Amino acid sequence: MNNTRLTFIGAGNMARAIIGGLLAKGYPADLISASATRQETLDTVSNQFGIATSTDNRALAQAADVVVLAVKPQMLKTVALDLQPALGHKPLIISVAAGITTQSMGEWLGVDQAIVRSMPNTPSQVQTGAAGLFANANTSTEQRQTASQILGAVGVVQWLDDEPLLNAVTAVSGSGPAYFFLMMEAMIDAAVDLGLSRDCATDLTLQTALGAAMLAKNSDVDVAELRRRVTSPKGTTEQAIKSFEADGIRTMVSRAMKACADRSLELSEQLGR
Ligand SMILES: NC(=O)c1ccc[n+]([C@@H]2O[C@H](COP(=O)([O-])OP(=O)(O)OC[C@H]3O[C@@H](n4cnc5c(N)ncnc54)[C@H](OP(=O)(O)O)[C@@H]3O)[C@@H](O)[C@H]2O)c1
Repeated sequence: MNNTRLTFIGAGNMARAIIGGLLAKGYPADLISASATRQETLDTVSNQFGIATSTDNRALAQAADVVVLAVKPQMLKTVALDLQPALGHKPLIISVAAGITTQSMGEWLGVDQAIVRSMPNTPSQVQTGAAGLFANANTSTEQRQTASQILGAVGVVQWLDDEPLLNAVTAVSGSGPAYFFLMMEAMIDAAVDLGLSRDCATDLTLQTALGAAMLAKNSDVDVAELRRRVTSPKGTTEQAIKSFEADGIRTMVSRAMKACADRSLELSEQLGR
């Protein structure tokens, strides 16, 4: 990515997360620019990151090797149609907008553009994101590597060969943080019912979630084995696991994720029109 000039169209939460990650990895601020509609946003971003900003999307895109589309999905069609005349130099386009297919983007930006569609998640804001990536047929191997480096600045990336699998990614990592937050909420409430103060319950629950994830990431055995290792026969954990299984936790999770993936497909069809 030496001397690759990046511009972010949209400078909200996701753009800032990625820009922050790139700068933390030593990417030069003078190779990054960003646009937004409000001067307040531009001031915030230029003060925070020391990057160039503008409200002129076309001018920024014309001067960039990589254009990251980071506006809300509902805005993307208008922004993309307006950008099209500024993309004659064929920059790599990376979209972080949920739901919009590379085909729809190709129709708006030009069918011969190299487009990588990604589905990142909110932990990108603390550089522990997880993103699924799909590249259209115009994207070169080098451009795929560039996209990996950009999204990889805020977490892990997984490439997909089939674009519809991004609906499954949405059901796992896109929406996944909310499932874990819900589990943490339920655990905190249950811990308070068991007599702990809310502060104590929150501290122990969050640290346990973090510790379990770190242990799983650093372990050479799978999560089922890690669970078994905490579950001694006739012990305390076994009682909780039996209760979860009897209440159908696996069916519950599977149905919830299917509902999420179905909704992702439905939204994608609506947004692409
Ligand atoms: N947040 C997440 O964790 C997350 C996760 C997965 C995917 N995404 C995707 O990331 C994208 C951005 O989400 P976000 O949460 O970062 O939204 P956001 O915070 O609302 O940011 C949107 C940005 O777009 C700017 N904008 C709006 N219209 C524009 C235009 N015509 N030209 C240039 N900039 C324009 C806004 O400018 P102003 O600030 O001036 O209003 C704002 O800076 C979405 O498509 C979403 O699907 C986000």
